[in-house]
Amino acid sequence: MSAEVAPGTHDPRALVRSPRTSTFAHMGEVYLYHDLYGFILKMSPDILAFLQEFRTPADPERVCGRYGNAFGEQTPESFVGIFLQFKCLMTPGTDELDGIWEMVGVPGPWNVWRREADGGLTFFTAWGERPVREHRLSAAEAAIWRAMDGETRLSALAGEHGMAEVTALVERLVHHDLQALKLSGVGLSFFKGRQHMQPPYLTSTMPYASYDPESDPPVEPLDDLASPEAYYRHAIADADAQFDHQETTLSHLFRDPHPALGGRRYGDALVDGLAARGLIGEGPLRVLEVGAGLGKVARAVIESLQARGHEVRYDILELSPTLATRQREELADLPVTVHQGEALTDAWPGEAYDLLISNEMIGDLPAARMTHEEARLDDESLVGDAFQSHLATLGPAGEAVARYTIPIGDAPDPFYINVGAIRFVERAFEALRPGGVAFISEFGEMGRWPVLSTQLDHPELSIHFGHLMTVAKALGFEPDFVFVMDLIDMDRDARGLATTRSYFRALQALLAASGVTLDKRAWTEDLVADLLEGHVDPETIGDLRYDKIEDRLMGLVPHEFKALLLRKPEPG
Ligand SMILES: C[S@@+](CC[C@H](N)C(=O)[O-])C[C@H]1O[C@@H](n2cnc3c(N)ncnc32)[C@H](O)[C@@H]1O
Repeated sequence: MSAEVAPGTHDPRALVRSPRTSTFAHMGEVYLYHDLYGFILKMSPDILAFLQEFRTPADPERVCGRYGNAFGEQTPESFVGIFLQFKCLMTPGTDELDGIWEMVGVPGPWNVWRREADGGLTFFTAWGERPVREHRLSAAEAAIWRAMDGETRLSALAGEHGMAEVTALVERLVHHDLQALKLSGVGLSFFKGRQHMQPPYLTSTMPYASYDPESDPPVEPLDDLASPEAYYRHAIADADAQFDHQETTLSHLFRDPHPALGGRRYGDALVDGLAARGLIGEGPLRVLEVGAGLGKVARAVIESLQARGHEVRYDILELSPTLATRQREELADLPVTVHQGEALTDAWPGEAYDLLISNEMIGDLPAARMTHEEARLDDESLVGDAFQSHLATLGPAGEAVARYTIPIGDAPDPFYINVGAIRFVERAFEALRPGGVAFISEFGEMGRWPVLSTQLDHPELSIHFGHLMTVAKALGFEPDFVFVMDLIDMDRDARGLATTRSYFRALQALLAASGVTLDKRAWTEDLVADLLEGHVDPETIGDLRYDKIEDRLMGLVPHEFKALLLRKPEPG
């Protein structure tokens, strides 16, 4: 038992967890959200267990004594300090509301609201997978909300609007249900020109699922071999929702002719980009696409190739039964055969392809984790062939590193190797005819080690394109590395709507209430204006934000998408 001090005795040495902190979990991590300040703390489950020791008042010295060296180099005392700083621990009996008056109210990021005719305001929220909710503010409350401008202290607002009114509103607006306000010790002008000093919670949200450390099952760390294969094989039930909500791709945003592509679709622009680089052969073409989503890229590519005079035979290899069915329906009028199968373990439907297309698929293939200790990176006596032989005993990651002499001296600890993507490049070499070309795109960098993205509903790692280039060269490919934006000749300066998944769902709900259907695409300011025309005055809704599309477009960062163009040379 952790309670050394009976509740209510107010021992001056005791601390207790703030009852206004809520816990959440997502992909092996837990998070604390402070419902009165908006602070967000990410931690591992063992640190949350430590905080739980204070669910009833407890003496921190005794709790820390029990945790001794439990957190490696960091002492338990240092966590007490952090929890005090972020008001997650407090002395029992503290009235937390006493502490808010010197704070500044800062509007939360990614809020969706509608101004009402009576002067009130309605917020729409749809955090994570939680249902859409409407939160109504009266005209008087909306006036206080507007005065929370990122500079004014709450004490000043209390003087003008009343302490009880401001208190009630702050409690509602900051709470994780709404997240329309954060409290900051300094005004936002303090961070002008020193953005790097701004604490991340001011621009972060909490979209994850609630987690009760007392009653929910323990949070499991992610597997050593990160692979969403089972997810694609079984989990996709609704094809449209998959791309509109779960996992939007760049090609999905540009599935229809778009001004930033000069009126072309993504697939048209892809064919133009490949042709401009001399990578599309002459005459009839045999094409394989692996992982074809809704089939929109396939349609545009086929129609574009046909318009250039090519006769096309197009195979698709697709893991998800739901998406395979959808592709058959979508492409029924085109020369397409859809094969359901897995890219690494099943036989590919044909051989001697002229063109292989894999758009944002290889990130879904497995990656394997390795530590410096396993690789014996610090063992200076292990060099040359002995080092390579040791690596080859370490499972798929070590084998790939050894086979292609992938340099790992600069690897973080632990590190991931995109073993599935490497195998995919090997299979691509086998499946292409001499002179054939593979286009393989994904989120990643030439020199950055794979990083786990956790904003999706399944784990996915970015691609280390440098490793794939090494593999491609070793296999005999003539490889090229390009930014997808450059290949499709996207207008980098065009501006588009910036969203997160939760924000987009909330905005969809707000517009649906006015009879407007907002689907997921690359919305520019003009396209939004056309959509709202006659239904909604854009001035009455917020918070619509447009960024340069190369930096952010809907929830994506287009400049982070890269592609390998791999040409298999002809003999001689
Ligand atoms: C992120 S989506 C991209 C879809 C499409 N290419 C696009 O650009 O919108 C990944 C696609 O690859 C498929 N996929 C994922 N893992 C696969 C695997 N191991 N074998 C074959 N297809 C796979 C998914 O079902 C889905 O169609």
